[in-house]
Amino acid sequence: MLIKSAPDIHPSEITPESVYRNRRQFMKDAMGLGVVAGAGLTMPGLAAAAPGDALRARAPTDMQRSAPADWWQGKFDSILAADRDGPFATDEDLTPYQDVVTYNNFYEFGTDKEDPHRRSGGFQVDPWSVAIEGEVNKPGVYDLEDIVNPHTLEERIYRLRCVERWSMVIPWVGFPLADLIKRFEPTSKAKYVAFETLVDPEQMPAQRSRFSIIDWPYREGLRMDEAMHPLTFLAVGLYGDYMPPQNGAPIRLVVPWKYGFKSIKSIVKIRFTEEEPATSWSMMQPNEYGFYANVNPEVHHPRWRQDMETRLPRTLFSFARIPTEMFNGYGDQVAHLYEGMDLSRYY
Ligand code: MTE
Repeated sequence: MLIKSAPDIHPSEITPESVYRNRRQFMKDAMGLGVVAGAGLTMPGLAAAAPGDALRARAPTDMQRSAPADWWQGKFDSILAADRDGPFATDEDLTPYQDVVTYNNFYEFGTDKEDPHRRSGGFQVDPWSVAIEGEVNKPGVYDLEDIVNPHTLEERIYRLRCVERWSMVIPWVGFPLADLIKRFEPTSKAKYVAFETLVDPEQMPAQRSRFSIIDWPYREGLRMDEAMHPLTFLAVGLYGDYMPPQNGAPIRLVVPWKYGFKSIKSIVKIRFTEEEPATSWSMMQPNEYGFYANVNPEVHHPRWRQDMETRLPRTLFSFARIPTEMFNGYGDQVAHLYEGMDLSRYY
């Protein structure tokens, strides 16, 4: 994986986190339920606004273009707010919205951090379908509506730690992968879940390139118990709004205790398998990137150490270097999955 320096973002471009926090707190207080809901609320600047509108107004226009059908808009009217003291959130400062959507890895759009933001403006996510295949009782090609609509959307505030040693704290919107998996009834032979991203060279410029380093589609996979873990999340939005194309619209995986490359974007296929599936980075450089890719400050990448990270954004006044935690700080919840395994061998 290429290493890039932290982003060079002018402070005036950064959406203040307080805008988001205040809105969430207001919604919570107003409803007294811990549930975000927009209908009928009045507040200066937010009158009659659906949740997300205040943020949407600040979002790049490409994000608005990715907002699809009516059923989808309704989903964002009631999002279960994350309990910041609970297991699915953190009270650490959120990475400002503008950093989350302008500093990305999405190699289908190019290898520079700015490429996904600059080159995904016209990315079409409607219609979208997801194929469910393999060791499962209900295989088929399902419209995104069938995939998402049965689920109540909730917020999760997770740390994202990239193997390149930068990290962010992102408020995602989505639902647990386990809830989706149960609906399609995997058979007893299903030991792993494999995921694939869209292949569409017309829309994804790097897939047209002869110099592309990845053998498309981008592939990822999880062991079944990892996929069923309550932390493992299918995200359809962030910061209370639709998923911007550059962050993996319309639906992506988020596995917070693993390096970011496991969190595959723009998913079109979910396949249940008996054997460990091939994954893009370990196909390319198996000595550098393993199947498990658990965040581990004791097991270093062959070309760089993993015991420190830079929490973005890096500013003039804070270098923001912090120690990396085992399993990205989620050890209490996930360490039991790897009991008895040599994590320097299964990296
Ligand atoms: N998914 C696809 N399809 N293509 C990619 O290049 N990059 C991965 C992951 N998912 C990638 C992907 C990497 S390396 C990281 S660190 C995260 O997405 C970055 O997610 P973000 O851009 O939303 O922060």
